[in-house]
Amino acid sequence: MLRQESEEYMNRRDFVMGSAAALSGRAESKRDRIRIGIIGTGNRGTSHLGGALQIPWVDVPALCDIDRQALAKAQDRLQSAGRPKAELYTGAEDAYRGLIARDDLNAVIIATPWKFHAPMSIDAMKAGKWVGVEVPAAQTVEECWQMLRASQSTGTPCMMLENWSFRRDNLAVLNMIRLGLLGEIVHCHCAHGHDCLYWYFDQSGNPRWCGEYLIDRNCDQYPTHSLGPVLSWMDINCGDALDTIVSMASRSLGIKHYFAETMGRDSAAARRHYRQGDIISSLIKTKNGNTIVLNNDMQLPRPYDDRWMIQGTEGLYSEEHNGIYLWRRSPKEHQWEPFPPYQAKYDHAWWRPEASAQPGADPIAAGHGGTDQLLMHKFYEAVRDRTPLPLTLEDGLTMSVVIPLSDESIAQGSTLVRFPDFTEGRWKTSRPYFAMDRTK
Ligand SMILES: NC(=O)c1ccc[n+]([C@@H]2O[C@H](COP(=O)([O-])OP(=O)(O)OC[C@H]3O[C@@H](n4cnc5c(N)ncnc54)[C@H](O)[C@@H]3O)[C@@H](O)[C@H]2O)c1
Repeated sequence: MLRQESEEYMNRRDFVMGSAAALSGRAESKRDRIRIGIIGTGNRGTSHLGGALQIPWVDVPALCDIDRQALAKAQDRLQSAGRPKAELYTGAEDAYRGLIARDDLNAVIIATPWKFHAPMSIDAMKAGKWVGVEVPAAQTVEECWQMLRASQSTGTPCMMLENWSFRRDNLAVLNMIRLGLLGEIVHCHCAHGHDCLYWYFDQSGNPRWCGEYLIDRNCDQYPTHSLGPVLSWMDINCGDALDTIVSMASRSLGIKHYFAETMGRDSAAARRHYRQGDIISSLIKTKNGNTIVLNNDMQLPRPYDDRWMIQGTEGLYSEEHNGIYLWRRSPKEHQWEPFPPYQAKYDHAWWRPEASAQPGADPIAAGHGGTDQLLMHKFYEAVRDRTPLPLTLEDGLTMSVVIPLSDESIAQGSTLVRFPDFTEGRWKTSRPYFAMDRTK
């Protein structure tokens, strides 16, 4: 985006914020309640339930899980929050069909194992329910197209619930980019650096549903957290598009080493063969010629990080350094400045404390409840007001499709693989839409 346009955007944003404040009382009185069903009440589904219970206008009359214990815990949680009991759907892998067939639900949240995401989303869209599906949205290129076609043919919106697009620091960086402070963007780094062996395996070293993928597949298994903010920073699907990818996998040592050290060399977990390389590195080129370095790093011992770095002709932001460098603006040439003062200055409207302090504002608006609450609040608001979801289905599919494309590239000895264009050419004319304060 050109700088002049960026300034117009910021002016528009301030105008929108002012109008929202003036109108907040009126908007409040128009609000309806919404009713959602949750499919999958494990770790993440329960967290979504907890979030929904904090929003007074979201009701949860239906829950589904094949695990009766998980379901019972979720039911308890509803009741301890003083909410009515939900109807429970369980007993079979397709019990969710009963939930989506209800005629009183506005939306469903899908937080099940990965293999169910696409089929459950498609069935829910066909039943006319707006869909919030956990990350990643799909596992294969074909599933991506099937989801897109289901949304197009039914006219039912679906969003992949990528939370890191909503992080406070990432949204402040987005504002800075839109103001032109980094100049023209040319390059970005991102990673999911998260030691997740505790999630992939149970305490006896048996693979959980997610661990099975590390045995069967060698690819970037979890690219959406890294790519979430990158899509908005780089105007992907609204001015530019991901074009090609090349991926490489390091050898696979981490999982076997961990189990050999903790359970012994002869344990089943240490002797098992894992196809998944320890570090997957991908290089992505965009249609406009920008580049992205993407790392998946989830099975070696390490502290958590995302290693976001975005670089343009006027400077760069680095999450690792919690720093920024702006040519001709930073006080010392070629030296990092701390990022927090920039974050305070360019904080996104969604996160500004004053936004939640305005009369009639929602209780979980900016500054309250954290990134996941902001994400879900924006999702539920769009469902309630029947406005566009904050991220498009095409965005979710663009992030998810890195899984099968990196798989294909690695399997073919790191060949160049082309991205499908889920926007079907609209990326050339679409204007940026994410976090433009359309609803606030
Ligand atoms: N966005 C994030 O930050 C974040 C964090 C954690 C997990 N996740 C995602 O959330 C999803 C769930 O992960 P989790 O950690 O909660 O896993 P989990 O194993 O704790 O929960 C999955 C639940 O789905 C249930 N389930 C399995 N098959 C089912 C079926 N056919 N019908 C209904 N329920 C079924 C399981 O019994 C389980 O309770 C995954 O896609 C994961 O990637 C996202």
